[in-house]
Amino acid sequence: MLIDHSELMVLPPGIRTELSEEQSRFSAARGGDPERRILIIGGAGYIGAPLTSYLLAAGAFVRNLDCLAYHNGASVLGYISHPRYELMLGDMGDPETMQQALAGITDVIILGGLVGDPITKKFPGAAERVNDQAIQTCIRALNGRGLNKVIFVSTCSNYGIIGDDQIATEDFELKPLSSYARSKVAAEKFLLGLEGQVDYAPTILRFATAFGLSPRMRFDLTVNEFTRDLFLGRELSVFDAHTWRPYCHVRDFARLITRVLDYPVGRVAFEVFNSGGDANNHTKQEIVDRILQRLPGRRVSYKPDSEDRRNYRVNFEKVKRELHFTPLVSIEQGIDEIIWALSAHMLDDVSTRGTFYGNYELPGLEAHALRSTA
Ligand SMILES: NC(=O)c1ccc[n+]([C@@H]2O[C@H](COP(=O)([O-])OP(=O)(O)OC[C@H]3O[C@@H](n4cnc5c(N)ncnc54)[C@H](O)[C@@H]3O)[C@@H](O)[C@H]2O)c1
Repeated sequence: MLIDHSELMVLPPGIRTELSEEQSRFSAARGGDPERRILIIGGAGYIGAPLTSYLLAAGAFVRNLDCLAYHNGASVLGYISHPRYELMLGDMGDPETMQQALAGITDVIILGGLVGDPITKKFPGAAERVNDQAIQTCIRALNGRGLNKVIFVSTCSNYGIIGDDQIATEDFELKPLSSYARSKVAAEKFLLGLEGQVDYAPTILRFATAFGLSPRMRFDLTVNEFTRDLFLGRELSVFDAHTWRPYCHVRDFARLITRVLDYPVGRVAFEVFNSGGDANNHTKQEIVDRILQRLPGRRVSYKPDSEDRRNYRVNFEKVKRELHFTPLVSIEQGIDEIIWALSAHMLDDVSTRGTFYGNYELPGLEAHALRSTA
């Protein structure tokens, strides 16, 4: 089992029995071998890098297939010499690469892709090549290999705009507003449409917007970006301050992925989970206020009508009920750790290494001929 012992001990006893039975089923299907051998696709990214350290610490073997689209390989330097870690450079859209990446693997976590509205808008050809075509090639390669679980990480952005008096459950209508979210909706549909045709258990996790420290920081995400800009004394422009969004810390996402891997197939197969916690639904104004409490006197200008019209509050009851998951890290703690890292000069190069710290350009895609279609 991968779940942290202290977390296991506070689960209801009946669930602990279910987890133990699930572990026995997993081992029995592999001739008594209990080892998890996990392929993370996109494991050098903002969420993948801390997920890697979490899974290694839990005792799993981790292979990371990543094309380092942002020249972001520095994020995994710390794992390279780990005896249970392998880095494989390549494109998930290449069938041969996928065959090699899947050799000996028990479970797959799909994080790879061109992530976010701005990068997909800036490089529409590459976005279609990666987020539509490559992802489907990758999913097609998974069947018939005796895999255990496959986790596809999607986004709450799929909900688009919803009314202020509404809160999105998993069956809420999807209204993707960007090419990024439209591709996620299409990939979800593709994967869910495979029910009865595949030999593994897929789960879709619709992630809230991530925040917090990672070996590959992304400063193009709201909490991280606002905190950095106000820390550096820049005037922060906030568009549509009243709009709602759910947030979740990167380490909590690693905890949640571990739950899906450990929980019984019957609870997760072909299921969609909003991934986050009710306490972390916030307006942009609330984020700014929390940062200003720590960095008083900084300059903020408020503007209406940004291009990004997303506004959604999300219901996280299902993930709490079925997987007993509640995030542990608050927005305040995330802001504090970023201020701490900036104060300790750990991120002094945020202004000069723009490519590494956000999804703005694609310097690494040429290596796999993905950019030629941009
Ligand atoms: N960060 C968030 O706030 C957030 C919110 C919701 C959902 N998600 C989802 O979580 C996942 C990870 O997001 P992230 O913030 O870590 O993004 P990221 O951009 O930091 O990481 C994505 C990784 O995928 C790799 N990649 C891109 N194309 C690839 C390809 N064809 N083959 C192999 N690797 C490829 C990139 O090199 C990068 O390392 C994504 O699927 C994203 O949609 C993220």
